[in-house]
Amino acid sequence: MFSLTRLATVAALAVSFAKGSLVLREDGVMTDMDSILAAASTVDQKSGPAADDPPQLPPPTTSVTILDGTPINSTVDAVAADGVTLNRRSRARRSHRGLLKHRRELARRDSDFSPDPRYEQVFGDNGDDHDGSIQGTAYLTYTVVDNSTYNVLDCLQFCDRVKDCVFVNLYYEFNNPLLDFVFSEHSNLKCAAYGDRHIAVEKTNQGGQQLEDPPAGLSYITHSTGWALKNPPEPAVPQGYSKMFGPSNGANNADGYMGFVFLDRYDVQACANLCDARDPDPHGGRCKFFNIWRAEIDQKPTTYTCSMYTEITDESTAVNSGQGSLLVTNSRGYALTKALPQSCNLQK
Ligand SMILES: *[C@@H]1O[C@H](CO)[C@@H](O)[C@H](O)[C@H]1NC(C)=O
Ligand SMILES: *[C@@H]1O[C@H](CO)[C@@H](O)[C@H](O)[C@H]1NC(C)=O
Repeated sequence: MFSLTRLATVAALAVSFAKGSLVLREDGVMTDMDSILAAASTVDQKSGPAADDPPQLPPPTTSVTILDGTPINSTVDAVAADGVTLNRRSRARRSHRGLLKHRRELARRDSDFSPDPRYEQVFGDNGDDHDGSIQGTAYLTYTVVDNSTYNVLDCLQFCDRVKDCVFVNLYYEFNNPLLDFVFSEHSNLKCAAYGDRHIAVEKTNQGGQQLEDPPAGLSYITHSTGWALKNPPEPAVPQGYSKMFGPSNGANNADGYMGFVFLDRYDVQACANLCDARDPDPHGGRCKFFNIWRAEIDQKPTTYTCSMYTEITDESTAVNSGQGSLLVTNSRGYALTKALPQSCNLQK
């Protein structure tokens, strides 16, 4: 049975066919980059091991922090099960290209010595008695490693075992009675695993908590170093999709925009799941293309945007490089391979 909506879609397609083009629609909606950029400056997705977390908790599943501009706190699975509920979408304005060129992260390196050649040191300790541990995006889990030496190798091997780990922060945490007396490992050398690479200016957790009764002092951090996989693996292409471009430093700015979510990590499969689950657009039909990218603010990874489209496109529209201190990095686009618009809308 044809709904009015479907009839309208069929009619629109018929017109498109007549013109010999499927892409241009009068009612096309462009990426609302202004809303995405504004939201990116409000989110706080930075974390690290809490003082009372036990080692080796399983990494949490990917979650959504913003849905179409509205803050939420929910797993991708829960959002997808809800059909990726839509806000009333605002008419998007054409966004202007950011002026800043992408700058490579210029992390200071104290030493390039890495006990595993697949990893490189991103930053060394600060040379002081007190240092800071990373508070950053895409925190996964941590372990403690044998502290009879400064055990970088064990930490890198831990990263190898944690799914999606590309970066570890290794540091001592003092005056934490759980590490000193409770957890069976009896080590204060923490190795925190992240799904994204972080830089020294993100060493913002200095401890400072009274975790043990006085006269024990406040907790503090020393010898905090960062290590990253030199060549993180290319994300697997989700089933039913093919990769159209990336990694690049341009976000898609194109027609058929449906909306966006922020993810707490760079998870291509999660973005595909949300595209699959998104309520169809009355004109454009189901989500057929998605663009995932990392927002860096002052070179610090800040959030991971997943924007969804009814129109398939390629790198030619991935032109928005950000704005001001926010840069678009690690941008990839994926198109639905099975369902072209005609099979999607006419064969049901
Ligand atoms: C999100 O929810 C989880 C679990 O309900 C909670 O532990 C966490 O603190 C929440 N995060 C924010 C930013 O509200
Ligand atoms: C190793 O960790 C244990 C437990 O936290 C602590 O008592 C000990 O002093 C640490 N050793 C070094 C060399 O820091």
